[in-house]
Formats: sequence, structure tokens, C-alpha cells
Amino acid sequence: MRLLCLALILSVAVTDVLGGRDFYDILGVPRSANVNQIKKAYRKLAKELHPDKNKDDPAAQDKFQDLGAAYEVLVDAEKRKQYDRYGEEGLKDIGRGGGDPFASFFGDFGFFGGDDRPRETPKGSDVVMDLWVTLEELYNGNFVEIVRKKPVYKQSSGTRKCNCRSEMVTRQIGPGRFQMLQQQVCDECPNLKLETEERTLEVEIEVGMRDGQEQLFTAEGEPHIDGDPGDLKLRIRTAPHPVFQRKGDDLFTNITISLDDALVGFETEITHLDGHKVKVSRDGITWPGARMRKPNEGMPNYENNNRKGTLYVTFDVKFPKSPFTEEQKQTIRSLLEPEHADASVYNGLGYH
Ligand SMILES: *[C@@H]1O[C@H](CO)[C@@H](O)[C@H](O)[C@H]1NC(C)=O
Repeated sequence: MRLLCLALILSVAVTDVLGGRDFYDILGVPRSANVNQIKKAYRKLAKELHPDKNKDDPAAQDKFQDLGAAYEVLVDAEKRKQYDRYGEEGLKDIGRGGGDPFASFFGDFGFFGGDDRPRETPKGSDVVMDLWVTLEELYNGNFVEIVRKKPVYKQSSGTRKCNCRSEMVTRQIGPGRFQMLQQQVCDECPNLKLETEERTLEVEIEVGMRDGQEQLFTAEGEPHIDGDPGDLKLRIRTAPHPVFQRKGDDLFTNITISLDDALVGFETEITHLDGHKVKVSRDGITWPGARMRKPNEGMPNYENNNRKGTLYVTFDVKFPKSPFTEEQKQTIRSLLEPEHADASVYNGLGYH
């Protein structure tokens, strides 16, 4: 047992000596980081370090591959455990780089700079899909996997006409007489058949995203027989929340208080979307419909997560259901005496 412990300690020490890459350092996350933090860090760095964006940096390719390797290991519980114990040496099968299996996995990082495909290439239709998310997910951020069943063209036997286009040809129709004619010209391509393919896509629900915001997955849309597939757009849809309503970056909620709380004051708390408590207290009298502002307790702003909207709390007062006894009525009357005036009569259409 003692020997085993020693071996473990040694192996940990050796890890550091052997070096290998520090995947945590590469991703810039603490060793205690959870999967969401790792995914978030990866997605952010992949945007910054993508070789297409760093053409001047000769090390860009290596950096990007290190990032990919770090991600591949740390995001996988099993591999991460191996790595934590034995370092990179313990992961025989993790090669350097190994393509870029992540790019499409996460949707576009936005470095493809719009649609720069040559215009002549036809493109399949774009597909827009709604992705329903909770307000909690929009407050805290999350990663969700969706399975997209998409039609793809696969090669089959035989050939077909393809890439057909009109071309002008000059034909001699008599001595010294020529005529320009338009003619359909096609290539011969291998035959294709439509098959359904399942793709697992990982979508980041970013903190503060707004309803209707779209995320682009290049080439995950409908295929085109002679060209590129269209794109998939995932549109964020917010599911109704039982406690909070969102307007822009502000949140709205209602609290029902008892009549005595309304009269003498109270202290209560609201559980926010990440579980933290928001204290709500009043000293004075609270009217039904009174509204309290809690700055910085709204939704995080999408562009700047540190900036938060306002939480508006509206109070509703629950009146007692059962009537009071004569004695209680007297007590209440005597208590409220100073305020008591003749009931005023008005048309109920509004106050002036
Ligand atoms: C609060 O109450 C108002 C009025 O009844 C209602 O319109 C609104 O939807 C409520 N808000 C929430 C978040 O339930």
C-alpha cells in the first residue's frame, strides 16, 4: 500500500519533470475547471488562435493544434483522469493535432468572414431550427448537444449530367456566314443518392444571448447536388419561466405578500437564476402594485457579461379571506384611526 502511494507520488512528480504539454495552461483554466468552463475557454481561444486569423504567426498552426489536443483530453472525463495522473505520456493515442474535428462541432466561430465562397457554386437551402432554452441557461451559459438528421448526397453507381451551363458557340452556317448559338453544356459526374446522416452538434448557449439570436453552422443545411450544402441556423428561443420575465436585459418578477407584511414591513428573498439569493425587504407600508428596483440583478448583457440589467419586483398584497370578529374589527379600527377618513366615492376609472 505504502509502495503504491509512493509510486503515485512519484508518477505525479515525474509528470512535471517529463513535461509534456500543460493542457490546463493551454486552455487557461484552473485544474478544477468543470466541463462548461473548458468548453467555453476552448471556444474562445479557438476563435483567437485560429490559423486563418493569424497568418503572420508561424507558430499559429502549432498553437491551434495544442489547443485542440488540450480540449480533446480535458473535455473527456476518462482521458482527463488519465492525464491528471500520468500527464500526456499516459495518453498514448492522443496525437499532435489530428485534423480539426472541432470546427464544425461548435458551429461557426465567426472567422469565415461571411459568405466568401465563389458565387458560381450553387448552394443548398439554409435551414433554420428553433432551439428552446431556459432563462437559467441564458443567465449562466450552457452547452447543449443537438442531433441533426441531415440529408447528404452519397456516391452511387452510374453517372449523371452535372455542372450544366449555357455556352456561346460559333457555328458556320454557310460560306463566310457564322452564327452565335447558345448551347447547353454538361459534365459527366458520378451518380449520387440521398442519404440521411446523423450529426451531433454542440451548441453554446452564451451568457446573455437574446431571444431570436442565431448561431451559424456552416454547411450543415440542405445539400445541393451540384454545389455546397446550405447552412444551418439555430435560433435561440426562450422558454417561459415560472418566476421571471425578461425584457431586454431587465427581469421582472412578482411577489405576493400578506396584508400584515404590507402594513408593518417584511424581509424575504428571491432565488435568482443561478441560485443566489436576492434580499427583498421593506420597512414601511407596501401598496399593492408597488415596484422595487434591484439594480444589477437583471440579465447579464450579451456583449459585456459584467454589466447586468435591473430586476423589477412588483408586490401584490394578499388580503385575509375570513372575516374578522367584532372585537378584532374594533382593534383594527382603533389602530388605523388616524388614517381613517370617510370612504371617498369615485368613478373607478382612475386617479387624478
Ligand atoms: C406579474 O403580474 C402581472 C400582473 O398580473 C403579470 O402581467 C405578469 O406577467 C407577472 N409577471 C410574472 C413574471 O409572472
